[in-house]
Amino acid sequence: MTDPQIVLAERVQQALADAIGAEYADADPMIRPSQFADFQANVAMSVGNRLRRSPREVAEAIRAQMSDFPGVVEVSGPGFLNITLDTSWIAGQASQMLADPRAGVSQATPQRIVIDYSAPNAAKEMHVGHLRTTIVGDAMSRIMEHLGHTVIRQNHLGDWGTPFGMLIEHLLDIGEDAAVAQLEAGAGTEYYQAARAKFEGDETFKERARTRVTTLQSGDPETMRLWHVFMDATIRYFNKVYTMLGVTLTDADIAGESMYNPMLEKTCDDLQAMGVAVMSEGALCLFPPGFTGSDDKPLPLIIRKSDGGYGYASTDMAAIRYRVDDLKVDRILYVVGADQALHFRMIFAAAEQAGWLPDTVSAEHIQIGMMLGKDGKRFKTRSGASVKLTELLQEAVDRATAAIDDRGYDEVTKAEIAHAVGMGAVKYADLSISHDSEYVFDFDRMLSFTGNTAPYLQYAQARIRSIFRKAEADPATVQGPIRIGEDAERALALQLLGFGAVVDQVADLVEPHRLAAYLYATATAFTTFFEQCPVLKDGVDAETRASRLALCALTLRVMETGLDLLGVPVPDRM
Ligand code: ARG
Repeated sequence: MTDPQIVLAERVQQALADAIGAEYADADPMIRPSQFADFQANVAMSVGNRLRRSPREVAEAIRAQMSDFPGVVEVSGPGFLNITLDTSWIAGQASQMLADPRAGVSQATPQRIVIDYSAPNAAKEMHVGHLRTTIVGDAMSRIMEHLGHTVIRQNHLGDWGTPFGMLIEHLLDIGEDAAVAQLEAGAGTEYYQAARAKFEGDETFKERARTRVTTLQSGDPETMRLWHVFMDATIRYFNKVYTMLGVTLTDADIAGESMYNPMLEKTCDDLQAMGVAVMSEGALCLFPPGFTGSDDKPLPLIIRKSDGGYGYASTDMAAIRYRVDDLKVDRILYVVGADQALHFRMIFAAAEQAGWLPDTVSAEHIQIGMMLGKDGKRFKTRSGASVKLTELLQEAVDRATAAIDDRGYDEVTKAEIAHAVGMGAVKYADLSISHDSEYVFDFDRMLSFTGNTAPYLQYAQARIRSIFRKAEADPATVQGPIRIGEDAERALALQLLGFGAVVDQVADLVEPHRLAAYLYATATAFTTFFEQCPVLKDGVDAETRASRLALCALTLRVMETGLDLLGVPVPDRM
């Protein structure tokens, strides 16, 4: 672990324990970036107050225990510790990081982690909200795998339920070929609306749809075949979106609602038998403790409707049991819209009550904030109609093409760069702000070449690659050692050392925007370095050149690895 903040935190804790007493060994040392030094530690303030001793005195006692620390420790103000690391220590750590094939990223104790993400509904459009859960879930999958965890991707498609009666009947009306063509093209919403209109206006169609629900539930082979025709075409459209985005989901990750259908009866019966589910107003309900409605009455989670039908909650109860018992997971991440927060809190509480979610398994709802249009309302096209995702993504690529049109690339290269920039921009926009905040979809901002955007980061890494092309050197074999003379070199090296800790933190907290912020700060530190410290210019001595090339190589590794972990493509040149 090379991260200076962590090294420092451990060292301060140790000094605290030595100076004050072992019972303080795990007190938070409160390391913060500082204006006056590299870092400041504020722990003496709180410990002093707790012991009724002067914090300054406590700080002095800690400082006295840190005489062997590779840096300068000073006490300032009422009792802050200002800590400046030795530049030679930073250079040594950076050189070591360059030699480390994992670039400072740890190998975690492996866990089995379900990541439930994307999950569009076959009976409705796949909308920008699903785009965001897809992108955030995919980044988390990549990050967890890179740390050495086993990730089980679960695409919990909405592919079952009563609407499928009318959807199948509509398919018979318009013919299989026409239906398939429409669904593959992403016109699921239009298809659904046409079926719905008939269902509402045509009594015989309604009757047919109802009967079809029953034959579907009973597993009638011909009905199942039609359902497959419908679903396969729909999934081909979803896959088009995934392919454009470069998302790692495959058909093997599909675990839609239909998969749980055969388990629902037993799920309900078992819950009822143990008394966790009870009948209320004709429906079988869960009343997880601690949830009450506005009228102070316990809030139900209906798992079997009075007509015997099952719904979203029934499926999620079956799914959580399956994931814990059969998939044997340690952690489940539900990357789903923030508007479902209550649903998941109730599901987790009910599963705990039933003993299906032991303390050893952590279930977390990773709330995805709503996507807004520039007008601050839910995202729509100008005409107010819903937006086909493939068209939206294509627009990003087209705009990126226009932005790089004058750079003199041949058509093939141009298309490659535009794809990377367009998709990178859309993905990074989702990843660079915290996943639970609402977010305004704005092409101009996400495609900007300045600021915290994909094009800026992609450009920074492409520029480093071009340095190596010019130097005719391979960044993978550059050796260093890294020596530090200039402030900008020191700042860049210090920044690079923090990479591993950020990745760990992102995995713990499930907050990919922290990695984005880190990469942006790294690109900014690199830009300053590159302005102030010539690498290939005449007059730069061989040692300095080798050291600066090594810093470039380490920056490139961090940028490439980091962007790859976020799922943002990295073009060779830009
Ligand atoms: N299909 C749902 C939706 O579009 C998301 C499903 C999320 N996963 C789950 N296990 N409930 O809102």
